[in-house]
Amino acid sequence: PKRYNITLLPGDGIGPEVVSVAKNVLSLVGSQQGIEFGFQEMPVGGAALDLVGVPLPEETLLVAKQSDAILLGAIGGYKWDKNEKHLKPETGLLQLRAGLGVFANLRPATVLPQLVDSSTLKKEVAEGVDLMVVRELTGGIYFGQPRGFSKTEKGEEIGFNTEVYATYEIDRIARVAFETARKRRGKLCSVDKANVLEASMLWRKRVMLMASDYPDVELTHMYVDNAAMQLIRDPKQFDTIVTNNIFGDILSDEASMLTGSIGMLASASLGESGPGLFEPIHGSAPDIAGQDKANPLATVLSVAMLLRYGLEEEYAARTIENAVLETLNKGFRTGDIFSSGKKLVGCKEIGEEVMKSVDSQQKAS
Ligand code: NAD
Ligand code: IPM
Ligand code: MN
Repeated sequence: PKRYNITLLPGDGIGPEVVSVAKNVLSLVGSQQGIEFGFQEMPVGGAALDLVGVPLPEETLLVAKQSDAILLGAIGGYKWDKNEKHLKPETGLLQLRAGLGVFANLRPATVLPQLVDSSTLKKEVAEGVDLMVVRELTGGIYFGQPRGFSKTEKGEEIGFNTEVYATYEIDRIARVAFETARKRRGKLCSVDKANVLEASMLWRKRVMLMASDYPDVELTHMYVDNAAMQLIRDPKQFDTIVTNNIFGDILSDEASMLTGSIGMLASASLGESGPGLFEPIHGSAPDIAGQDKANPLATVLSVAMLLRYGLEEEYAARTIENAVLETLNKGFRTGDIFSSGKKLVGCKEIGEEVMKSVDSQQKAS
C-alpha cells in the first residue's frame, strides 16, 4: 500500500484543536482509500519556545524536510508577544518557510453557495467569487536586508526594513502564477506598488516579460491600494492574483471575508523541490483558544490541498472537499460562519460531522 509520512506542527492557540480534527479526517480518508499515513508531531512557535527555548528547533526542520508533507496549525500568542525578534513564534514560522524554500503560497478564496449568507458583503457581490491569491512567501520586506533597530543622530529610536526582490525571485513566483492562471480561467492580475517602490517597478517589468510565454493568459496590473478596494467593490473580476509577500498577506485576509470567515481559508506553500507546507491562513486566535469554538474547516481544506499539491492524491482531496460541502449542506456551522436557522456546533463536533460525510461518500461509491 501507499504510505506517506506527514509532519504535524500544531503550534499554539487554536492550532492543536484544528490540527487534531484535520489529522483525523486525513487518517479516515486514507484508511478508506488504501493510503497509509505516518504522523510525526513536532513543536514549533510558542510551544517550541516553552519546550526548548527556540521557535524553530533544528530537529523540527529536519523531520519536516524528511517527510512527504507538512501540516501546520498556527503559531503565536500574547505570552510571547514581547519576546525579542529572534525569540518570537512568528520568527519560527518564517524560518520554517525559508528553510523549506516554499516560495509560492497559494491561497484560494471561494464563496461557497452554502455560505453566501455568512459573507459581510451583499449576496450579489459575494456570490460566485472564486479567486486564487499567489503570494510570494520567502522574500520581500519580511526577509530583506538591511533591517533592524537603530538610532538617529538625535538619539531617536528607529526601526527599519527593506523591501527587496531579485529577478530570480520574481520570475519563479510569476511562473507559478501564470501556470496557475492557465489552469483556471486564464486571467492573471499582478498587484504591486510600481508607482512608488523600486522593488515593484522591477516586479512589474519581469512579470510583463514573462507574459510572452503565456499568450493564452490575460495579464493585467493593479496598484495594491486599488486592488484592496476592488476586492470589496467587485471581487468577481479576479481570477488569479499574484503579489509580493506583504501585499499577499494583507489581501488574502481581506479576501477571506468575502467567503464568510477566515476560518474557511486554506493554503499551500510550495518550493522547487521537497515537501510542501500546508496551513490555514488564520492565526492562533488567542481570543477563542481552548474553548472548542475554532472553525477547523480551513485546516481540513488545507489537508485537501496537501493531498492535491503535496501528494498528487486528487481523488482523496476531492473526497475531503465534498465532505466539507456536505457538512455545510446539512446546516452545521461554527460560530464564525453561523447564520440564523443553522446548527451551531463546536470545533470537535463539526469535525465529527465531516468524518460522517466522508463515511457516507465511501458507502455511496
Ligand atoms: P487570527 O487570525 O489569529 O485571529 C483574527 C480573528 O479571527 C480573531 O477574532 C479570531 O478569533 C478569528 N479566527 C481566526 N481563525 C479562526 C478560526 N479558525 N475559527 C474561528 N475564528 C477564527 O489573527 P490575530 O488575532 O491577528 O493574531 C493572533 C496570533 O496569531 C498572533 O500571535 C499572530 O502573530 C499569529 N498569526 C499566526 C499565523 C500563522 O500561524 N500562520 C497567521 C496569522 C497570525
Ligand atoms: C500568515 C501570518 C504570518 C505572515 C505571520 C504570523 C508571520 O500572518 O501566515 O499569514 O505574515 O505570513
Ligand atoms: Mn497573515
